[in-house]
Amino acid sequence: MKVLVLNGPNLGRLGRREPDVYGHTTYDDLVRLCKGTGAELGLEVEVRQTDHEGEMLGWLHEAADEAVPVVLNPAAWTHYSIAVRDACAQLTAPLVEVHISNVHKREEFRHHSYVSPVATGVIAGLGVTGYALALRWIAEHARP
Ligand code: DQA
Repeated sequence: MKVLVLNGPNLGRLGRREPDVYGHTTYDDLVRLCKGTGAELGLEVEVRQTDHEGEMLGWLHEAADEAVPVVLNPAAWTHYSIAVRDACAQLTAPLVEVHISNVHKREEFRHHSYVSPVATGVIAGLGVTGYALALRWIAEHARP
């Protein structure tokens, strides 16, 4: 089963970006983690990152058209993009929203997510391990 792991703005800078908040794992490490976890679980995992909202919308439309499960870290779009939420609402396979940091114990503006109401589930604050947990859940619950 194919699974898309989609990452929003600034996540390509993981490891260099505010390491006190996001840790020292780089984006390349994250890709390896997701692909390795997928291989263990028998999933065909594709990991992508973009700083461009339109590109993200295109990937979500692709997942909607192909009924592919998605692990999504919408990054800053979480907190203000109705367009990303509307694209997520079109998904028919499970959607797991992941945040590396615990957004609920950070600034007030990070407490609201436009995506959570249309997600199957949400993982926040467990670092990059959250992606592996999301993939494990998908492997167990989203088999066609
Ligand atoms: C994030 C949390 C968001 O508030 C922030 O804008 C990000 C990353 C996280 O993974 O913790 O870019 O989604």
